[in-house]
Amino acid sequence: MATVRAAVAALAAVSVALAASLGAGRAASATAPPADGVDAPLPEHLADTGLYAPGSSTDPRDGVLGFTPQYPLWSDGATKRRWLALPPGGFIDGTSPDAWAFPPGTRLWKEFALGGRRIETRYIERTPRGAWRFASYVWNEAGDDAVLAPARGIRALAVAAAPGGRYAVPGRTDCLACHGGSPVPVLGASALQLSPARDPLATGASPPRPDAVDLRGLAERGLLRGLPPELLAEPPRIPARSPLERAALGTLHGNCAHCHHRAGTQVPLALTLAQRVADPAAALHEVLQSTLGAASRFRPPGSAAEAHIVVPGQPEDSVLTLRMASRQPQRQMPPLGTELPDTEGLALVQRWIASALPPPDPRQEIHP
Ligand code: HEC
Ligand code: HEC
Repeated sequence: MATVRAAVAALAAVSVALAASLGAGRAASATAPPADGVDAPLPEHLADTGLYAPGSSTDPRDGVLGFTPQYPLWSDGATKRRWLALPPGGFIDGTSPDAWAFPPGTRLWKEFALGGRRIETRYIERTPRGAWRFASYVWNEAGDDAVLAPARGIRALAVAAAPGGRYAVPGRTDCLACHGGSPVPVLGASALQLSPARDPLATGASPPRPDAVDLRGLAERGLLRGLPPELLAEPPRIPARSPLERAALGTLHGNCAHCHHRAGTQVPLALTLAQRVADPAAALHEVLQSTLGAASRFRPPGSAAEAHIVVPGQPEDSVLTLRMASRQPQRQMPPLGTELPDTEGLALVQRWIASALPPPDPRQEIHP
């Protein structure tokens, strides 16, 4: 337990430092924002963040666009909706296709509902000065107003439909544990997640709402520029060796890649679960090399044998699935954000491991 707490605390600390430098660096290089001054404090009410049309607490304002990542994060069965808004005349620079540059003034929201009731709406903003900030707004019982949660979050909100009747609103340090370790803190509005070639086997995915934008929708509106044209001509997908492998690796990307990625500022481990659209075959290769047959640092209790992240053909001996299935604080993966394992995602990954092919020959080319 102590180790995990320490690891999570350490990575949160790294994230805070990183987010601070990220904000500072961007502010200096951004075009419009003034170099000095302070950002206005976060609004106390969600309505004042600009999500809804005037007078409404349900209908998004004109210019606020819905989006639906194809490999969503599991959050104990919560139903989610997501939106983004760019400042007037602003656009996303997709030149670096796996790390989109969002303009100052970008706002993103994610609403969590359980049992048909809205619980919280999370908010990420890139301020006019270029800094990133994170907040959560908690809905009242009547469902007509959501108020800024304290920065430390709320440990246990009474929510009948939540596991054990309690719902945890993450604090801002927790946001950074997941959102602070990548070059860009936006995780679900990305080329792979918004690809029009959606994975039919993806778990937990809801079909995009009619008003949701995908990669092409963003590009057609001029809101995403500089993306390599081949990604629009042929929408990106994980170049896996089978549909089952694609969906399993997609689930791992959506739920784990924000910590387990090659840059590795979050987690000093060889394990990478991150896919990329700029060099998809190389990214796939890294994931397969670091999972299939790879030695694990973690030793399952009671086992003297050397453990492996994935033992091809044997999900019951694979540390990857053992840790996904566990909800003991010292073992569970992801380490925060859930009370219950993602049974559907876990079953998919187990099926992939049961069928797992050996690691690919590094000299051999992978064909999608
Ligand atoms: C356990 C990891 C984790 C934690 C903790 C977390 N998030 Fe996220 N968040 C994600 C992932 C992964 C996505 C994208 C996938 C999805 O939306 O299903 C996401 C999506 C979002 C989005 C939509 C924009 C985007 O990045 O795609 C917002 C807004 C958001 N989170 C805000 C927050 C805030 C605010 C907090 C803290 C109060 C927070 N998140 C805590 C992992 C996390
Ligand atoms: C918030 C960051 C974070 C997220 C999200 C996360 N992990 Fe981890 N993971 C860690 C840290 C930190 C460690 C190292 C400490 C430990 O072993 O508990 C770790 C260790 C591991 C290990 C052990 C590696 C070894 O060499 O033994 C596995 C396997 C693993 N994670 C799988 C996953 C899977 C699968 C997911 C997604 C379902 C996931 N992780 C999501 C932070 C994260």
